[in-house]
Parts: sequence; C-alpha cells; structure tokens
Amino acid sequence: MYIVGDEEIEALATVVRDKALFRYGVGNQCERFEQRYAAWLGVKHFSLAASGSNALAAAMTAIGLGPGDEVLIPAHTYMASATSVLAAGAIPVIVDIDETVTIDPKAIEDAIGPRTKAVVPVHMWGAACNMAAIMEIAARRNLIVIEDACQGVGGGYEGRKFGAIGHIGCFSFNYFKNMAAGEGGGVAVNDEHVAKRVRCAIDPCHFYWNGRDESEMPFAANGARASELMGAMLNVQLDRLDGMIRAMRTEKKKILQGTAQLGNIGLRPTPMNSPEHDCATQVMYTLPSAEAAARFAKLFPSVVAGKTGRHNYTEWDQVLMGAGAAHPAMNPYNMPANAACRRTYSKDMCARSLEILNRTVMIATHPQHTAQETADIIHNVSVAARHVLGGGPLAEADLRRGAPVDAQKFDLQADA
Ligand SMILES: Cc1ncc(COP(=O)(O)O)c(C=O)c1O
Repeated sequence: MYIVGDEEIEALATVVRDKALFRYGVGNQCERFEQRYAAWLGVKHFSLAASGSNALAAAMTAIGLGPGDEVLIPAHTYMASATSVLAAGAIPVIVDIDETVTIDPKAIEDAIGPRTKAVVPVHMWGAACNMAAIMEIAARRNLIVIEDACQGVGGGYEGRKFGAIGHIGCFSFNYFKNMAAGEGGGVAVNDEHVAKRVRCAIDPCHFYWNGRDESEMPFAANGARASELMGAMLNVQLDRLDGMIRAMRTEKKKILQGTAQLGNIGLRPTPMNSPEHDCATQVMYTLPSAEAAARFAKLFPSVVAGKTGRHNYTEWDQVLMGAGAAHPAMNPYNMPANAACRRTYSKDMCARSLEILNRTVMIATHPQHTAQETADIIHNVSVAARHVLGGGPLAEADLRRGAPVDAQKFDLQADA
C-alpha cells in the first residue's frame, strides 16, 4: 500500500455505519468503482472479484479455455498467472523473459504449438511488456491475450492502459499493489458476452440479484464476490492513482538522469518497453554479472529480481509437481484431453530467464519520497556502482541511510 489516509477511514466507516457491506441491494460502492475504473481504463466492462487470483481464473474460464489448451506464461511472475490456467483445466507452458524482465516476444513465437490457445503477458513490477510485438504475434498466430496487470495498476503502454490492450485484463488490489484494499481484484474486458461470463465465474448466483439473462447460459463456479468495503476503499484509492503514478514517474526519471553518467563504468538501466507510460514503481539496472548484482544489492537497500522467491517459476511447487487440483480426477495434468499438451517442467527449463533475473537489481520509488530521499538514492546508486563496477574503495560513511527493502513484498531469499 502506497498512500492511505483519513479519506479511506471515512469511506469505510460510512459503509459500516450504514450496514451496507453487501454489494447487491444495500450498497453501491462496488458498482461505482467498476464504472469509474472501466472509464479510467477505457474499457466497456470491469468486474470486481475477491482477489487477483480469482480475477485471472474468472478470465481464463470466461474466454473458454479448458482441457486440451496450452497457455504461455512467463518464467517471472507470481504463480497465480499459471495456477489460474490450471483452474480452467488447461496447461501452463512456461517461457523465457528478456532483459525487460517481462515475457520475451521471441520466446512466445518459438513456444507456440498446435495446442497453444493463449498467452499471458505480465507487467512485472509495473514494467511494460512489449505489447505491440505480443499483439502482432497474437493476431498472426490466432492467440488470445490475457494481460496480467496485477502488478501494473495505474501504468500503461504507449498511451494505453495496462489491462486494456489485450483481449482481457486482470488486476489485483492486494496489500502490495498500487491501489490496495487489503485483498481484491478484477477483470477488464470489452466483449459483452465474455463480460457476462466473467460475472458468472465471479458470482454464479449474481443473476439472483441482477435478474436472469436468457441470452447467457450460466455455469457453476466458486464464488469470489467483492465486498462493499473493498469498493469503498478502492473508490478513494482511485482518486489518488494518477497523482501517485505521476510522482513515481518523476522520481524514476530523476534517478535515471542522476545516474546516467555511471554508464561509463557499466551501470546500464534495464531496457524498458514503454518508459514514459509504465508504472515507474521500480528503477532497474541490468548488471554485467550475478555476482556484481548481489554485491550491489548488499551495499544499499535494493533487490535482485532473481531472489524474489515466489515470483520465479522455480518456486511454483504445485506446477512443477504436476499437482493441478486437489482431486486426481480434476487434475488437468491427468486429464486425457491434455495428453498432447506439454506437461513437464524442470527447474532449469528457463535458465536464460534466471540468468537475467540474477543480474537485475531493482530500487523502489515512492510517491511520497522527498527531494532529499531521491537525492540519497542517486547518491547510493553512484557509490555502490563505483565500488562494485568501478573497483573504487568503500568507506561505511559513503552510503546514506535509505528506507529498508520491504522483505515481505519481495519475498527476499536468504542468500539475496
Ligand atoms: C503478477 C501477479 N499475478 C497475479 C497475482 C494474484 O493476485 P492476488 O494476490 O490478489 O490473488 C499477483 C499478486 O501478487 C501478481 O503479482
């Protein structure tokens, strides 16, 4: 959570005081947010869900994925991008990322097989995927694009909002995201038929409240309905979003400008697919080696992308073990319809991704950083780079105090 204040407390208190916690009948916060956020994204429909994982599963189900289908997933993302594919009965196929730390369009093209139906570009850490290349491949090879914008709330690609570029987009509003309600998520889509299916997947009993729709065949699904507390909180968070993203973009630009001269000793900003439009929640550098990145991150608070535990495919236990459901008969890996899908994984299958991630360091921006705090980051990057890359000496006093890394958010591994 970036910024929270009395406005959120007041909005939540009103919902509680009014005893209007249920979205149908008594409340209007969820509906208000859905309409406002759809307009903000520039899509026709937005549906809130209990989490980003539920949103992804609803999207996969709604677009009709199922047994016999493969879906391409990047090696660097939270496991829900992959487990949501399994929730629909389909099989995730893991492909490499490139130096932008997002899915490599060339790896997508190389991985497309006869069963591949969809691809999931994930805007990791708020950094944009190469959407132009991905949408071009998708059009040419007949793939559905499910944008995982869970970490990309508020950002965009070349003037269009994340989650509104692919055929369907998914968001998380959990505690760590750019708009936060503790937990929460949602699905953005233009197609009305798919939107109705999304609503059915999120709440199969929604017709009871909104009226039956004879044109749509309902189906059974688990409930993942949003509460009015979530809606109320998000309505306030949405008011803050543009200002927050603007502030982070400004800080990121300052840090990149302030460290540009370190290019002469080999400090290279990570390539970006849409530097003017992404979320700017992280400033990233691609170092020449994993060893240099580890030393850099030890010197002052920063994170090596390869050491962020749950965000790398090597930590997705259930996927790697083929445990796609609780009951063996419901496990997509056991289903005869999936026999021709690629169902085997190994920890070194995307070694290129791991190599890149272990050389990528990330420094968090913050919308409330003061000019002094930004200057301290620039100073510390310079000191660390001169020492690690330039071989300069380091005195303890050279580094200024900075905010510690949020270890819970980044799931930092012990050897990081
Ligand atoms: C890229 C990505 N996808 C999906 C999710 C799942 O969202 P949630 O935690 O709200 O279920 C997350 C959450 O961390 C995420 O980072």
